[in-house]
Amino acid sequence: MTLVAKRREDYRAPEFTITDIALDFTLDPSATKVVSELQVKRQDNANAPLELDGEHLQLLEVAIDDLPFGDYQQTDSGLVLNNVPDAFTLRIVTQVNPSENKALEGLYLSNGVYCTQCEAEGFRRITYYLDRPDVLARFTVKITGDKASLPTMLANGNPIEQGSNTDGTHWILWQDPFPKPSYLFALVAGSFDQLTDTFVTQSGKSVALELFVDKGKRQRGEFALEALKRSMRWDEEVFGLEYDLDIYMIVAVDFFNMGAMENKGLNVFNSKFVLADQASATDEDFFNVESVIAHEYFHNWTGNRVTCRDWFQLSLKEGLTVFRDQQFSSDMSSPLSNRIKQVRVMREHQFAEDASAMSHPIRPDEVIEMNNFYTVTVYDKGAEVIRMMHTLLGAEGFRAGMDEYFRRHDGQAVTCDDFVSAMQSATDIDLTHFSRWYSQSGTPRVEVKRAYDAASNKLTVTLTQQNLATADQSEKHDLYIPLQIEFLAADGQHVAPDSGMFRDNLVILDKPVTELTFTGKGSNITPVALGNFSAPVKLTSDLTPLEWLHTFRFANDAFSRWDAIQQLYNWCIEQYYQGSPQQIEKVIWQGLYEAVEASQDNPEILGECLVVPSFETLCQTRENIDVHALNEARQTFSHDLAEFMSDLLLVIYQTNQSDSYAYEPAQVSSRRCKNVVLTLLAELPLAETLITEQFSGSDNMSDTLGALKAAQQFDLVLFNNLMNEFEQRWRDDPLVLDKWFGLHATCDRSDILAQLTLLRQHPQFSQQNPNRVRAVIGSFAFYNTSGFHADDGSGYRFLTDYLLELDKTNPQVASRLVTPLTQWQHFAPSRQALMRQQLSRLLDDASLSKDLYEKVSKALA
Ligand code: PHE
Ligand code: ZN
Repeated sequence: MTLVAKRREDYRAPEFTITDIALDFTLDPSATKVVSELQVKRQDNANAPLELDGEHLQLLEVAIDDLPFGDYQQTDSGLVLNNVPDAFTLRIVTQVNPSENKALEGLYLSNGVYCTQCEAEGFRRITYYLDRPDVLARFTVKITGDKASLPTMLANGNPIEQGSNTDGTHWILWQDPFPKPSYLFALVAGSFDQLTDTFVTQSGKSVALELFVDKGKRQRGEFALEALKRSMRWDEEVFGLEYDLDIYMIVAVDFFNMGAMENKGLNVFNSKFVLADQASATDEDFFNVESVIAHEYFHNWTGNRVTCRDWFQLSLKEGLTVFRDQQFSSDMSSPLSNRIKQVRVMREHQFAEDASAMSHPIRPDEVIEMNNFYTVTVYDKGAEVIRMMHTLLGAEGFRAGMDEYFRRHDGQAVTCDDFVSAMQSATDIDLTHFSRWYSQSGTPRVEVKRAYDAASNKLTVTLTQQNLATADQSEKHDLYIPLQIEFLAADGQHVAPDSGMFRDNLVILDKPVTELTFTGKGSNITPVALGNFSAPVKLTSDLTPLEWLHTFRFANDAFSRWDAIQQLYNWCIEQYYQGSPQQIEKVIWQGLYEAVEASQDNPEILGECLVVPSFETLCQTRENIDVHALNEARQTFSHDLAEFMSDLLLVIYQTNQSDSYAYEPAQVSSRRCKNVVLTLLAELPLAETLITEQFSGSDNMSDTLGALKAAQQFDLVLFNNLMNEFEQRWRDDPLVLDKWFGLHATCDRSDILAQLTLLRQHPQFSQQNPNRVRAVIGSFAFYNTSGFHADDGSGYRFLTDYLLELDKTNPQVASRLVTPLTQWQHFAPSRQALMRQQLSRLLDDASLSKDLYEKVSKALA
């Protein structure tokens, strides 16, 4: 199989546009009829045919201006209509089969709910259309369906008319006044519990809020509704952006490929990101619900009102909206733990993507399957790029740029360049060089080095940027990197360089080498670079272990203090990995102890500092990795750390108990701190009672899960006992049981593959449900280091066997799960061979999806 990639350069404006579309659905499980009436207008003077996109459709009828039309061809990818007029009404009737649709793209039926998913190119599975984001039309949607089983029938915009038929069906007509691209269309029909509320906007308009959840789950939806109101208020306060329709609807569905979808006025959510209460959801779940609710809401302006010209511009809406939801979350809880969470995603996942064959710029140049580009690069690195603009422009400048962006582009489909140029116009900062972040892939390396000249008493700090070739781009240029930096003298006082700073604590690296000098201040100065993770780069420096401790004690930037401890852990683990842990002198252990001791009244930073870098993070700064040696080094270090400070850890564990559960920042930090400590203590025999007592006394899911994670670490017998109890309690609640599936799948045990087989046979497991598949297969492939990387290659083979099966029904999910196999670059050659062998098996499958083909063929190239 060879598939041709689409290229960003080849963008052409559409030859036709569609101003209005009237859709008429008659819902039926296996034969849903879709009548579409389009107002089509030619955009240029040529006599081009009208080429509509369409896949998996049964065509029943074509008419132009009410007359049957026959001058067309059906192709693999759509419908070509020849000799059409310059302006006309096109009527197309198609039929689709929602119950057979297991790919969950287009119109599908699952658990009795009809639901659509159109981003990126799913609308073409509903009807023939110009399925591209730069065609914006006004939608009117009529839905007819069975009254008893489908009491709720929703589409975008406002309901304007409804009625009943004599055959037991009813119908409803929806109208969306805002022209939109087809990817924002949505239809949902089913039977739900409904939560309602109202929100009064800053200009006094009343908006009806409606949340639809599975029957019986009403109470678990309350938090999401509150989160929605907080998001609406925040966007008014921070960006002056108000909601624009009379009604805002959110539907939670159990079968969904992604997190959620921002369809205009009708968001569709994976129920995982809506449902949450104290008993069933962890603090992290609450956090995720709030941030995804915010994310989709914020898309109403950054995505819907101003949308993407083409899919290469995806980061225009996603990078920006992720940045906005991050700012929101940070305002709702605590900036430091939020920033650390974001950086973990970058270091664990985005850096890994950059280092792999899937490396791409935040604005990709070439795409075979668009669904493969909903990536941590487009989303999270995209958000880091927006954040750097925020840093450069300042909060006010950034807001002015956003205002200008909406002033220029409201109602349009635009490019990343349009965004940068609006930002540029608002301040006098030149973003030309900066905008290379959009076109260049890869993680820049920044090196900090010092040289002291005693004769002139001058210390030179050299900051070097290096942009290495990536799989997709061999030629690289220097980037424009805003580096937050502070300098500490030996006594902990701050010192400033002679000159060269862009502003206080900010230096711009815009060439290969940037130097800062300190005259007359001696040689003993510690540079603390990458404050607040001011740029998505890998930092290396000549700091000594004792200087990391010095940084922790004296730096102003809280992120840098945390990062100093992480760097020190990384260094310690390296000593174990090299087989010489004795290199870690007593003063360093002691220093770590004191750092923890000194932070006891700050559970937020303490909790984060007691997390040892993940295996995935450790991989990003190493080559030719011996997986098991590195994993064991990490494990042994954690054990020794826990042992060295066990008395202190016990005290911290005891002091961070709260009596009655609330999801609020102080409690969340304290609970996290307690559970992080429990995981560390699980290295030691004394943990058994703590774990069992926490498990049996817990009144919330965070503590329950904390106990289970610690038990998983502690010993298999205890773990199995508690897991069985958990299963009894939650056996009828698959969403909660996903936590249980995930814990089993990440367990370090020699019979893990047999365990996975059992899990697949569990009554609540279903290969058709992406959440279940991610909980079992995804957890194993991404996070079970010992099992996935078993020396005989059995873990790789297991994943491959599974993907060959899953790809037949749900290529999108299969393609996401193949990621760990494609990231073989960091490992030792023998392991690379085993991983590539399995990738070859995938590629040998003649019926492999485009999705998997693109990733696997790149990984093998
Ligand atoms: N646009 C969605 C979001 O980020 C993600 C998504 C993409 C959902 C494709 C479904 C399909 O909010
Ligand atoms: Zn999004």
